[in-house]
Amino acid sequence: MLNAHPDRLCELKTALARRPRVSLIYLPTPLEFCPGLTRELRGPDIWIKRDDLTGLATGGNKSRMFEYVLGEAKAAGAETVVGGAAVQSNYCRQLAASCAKTGLECHLLLRRVRGKKDDEIQGGLLLDLLCGAKVQIVDVPDWVAQGESIRQYARKLQQQGRRVYVARVGDESRLGLYACAYAHAFAEIIEQAEAAKLKIDEMWVCSSDTTQGGLAIALKHIQSSIRLVGVPALAKPITPGYTFPECISAIGNECAEILALPTRLQPGDITSVLDYVGPGYGILTDAAREAMRMAGRSDAIILDPVYTSKTLAGLIDHIRRGRLRTGQKVLFLHTGGLPALFAYADTLGLQDLLIQ
Ligand SMILES: Cc1ncc(COP(=O)(O)O)c(C=O)c1O
Repeated sequence: MLNAHPDRLCELKTALARRPRVSLIYLPTPLEFCPGLTRELRGPDIWIKRDDLTGLATGGNKSRMFEYVLGEAKAAGAETVVGGAAVQSNYCRQLAASCAKTGLECHLLLRRVRGKKDDEIQGGLLLDLLCGAKVQIVDVPDWVAQGESIRQYARKLQQQGRRVYVARVGDESRLGLYACAYAHAFAEIIEQAEAAKLKIDEMWVCSSDTTQGGLAIALKHIQSSIRLVGVPALAKPITPGYTFPECISAIGNECAEILALPTRLQPGDITSVLDYVGPGYGILTDAAREAMRMAGRSDAIILDPVYTSKTLAGLIDHIRRGRLRTGQKVLFLHTGGLPALFAYADTLGLQDLLIQ
């Protein structure tokens, strides 16, 4: 095989197949060549893995994760799921859609991060409501306090006799299970690359935790030579006192434990590039705006303002600085996030493109 050790790949797939899982999305997602971006940047061949097309309320990386997470919830007899994150959270949107599809009742406690603007029924919030989630917008200072509110809320439902499954950020203890979905995605990519006779040199993904953790443990286990580059959308990990490589390798190792695989990651196995966050989480940079426009006009790839645009901005910068060359093959993993575009419309700078 071009990108992996075949016995190790087989071992990984067998371990994944043992996990409880519900079917929610269209897999495999496409792996496509991007002729426009490749031409425009005059560097390596750029390919894209379309996890924005998982097909669940517009798709994204969390859809894969809920196949495993709700698989476990269903197996444990849950009938109600309680979770929450920011108002425009892609995680919550895909949780609402996954619950609708599996007949689970979904309760979301969403945190305002943009003041009154977050009350607008737009983007992810609009889709949460359409998917039947019971949504409350709460004012809590940070995600730690939000986690406590979610657990309290879940306890109330439990006291009423409901069988409740607590999701993020109420329960941050199952991150290895979320990562299993991206160990699965890595195996899928390897098989698609094999079928296309594509030897991938580098893979870029927006991640600060479970996505990269799953990819990285799978990569190491199947002895792939691909260099995995993660670009977090926030400046520091949400767990204080740790670096991204420490957090991501620990999540990958939890995934290996769940799958009973002997492979373990060290922080040194993880590459996290922190140069493209800009002023902060959810605040667009000029480079991200440029990346969004370039991907749209070159290959009709629509990026989101919070995650994927900053990651492509990083890849573009590495190509322009000559670190990646013609003849090399780079895979950009599109993790979704489309609905947030509509909620962030006024920050995209698209007014300048209108012909007056
Ligand atoms: C569109 C999108 N891309 C990337 C990520 C990063 O994923 P993680 O850091 O959980 O691996 C997220 C997380 O919410 C996301 O919504």
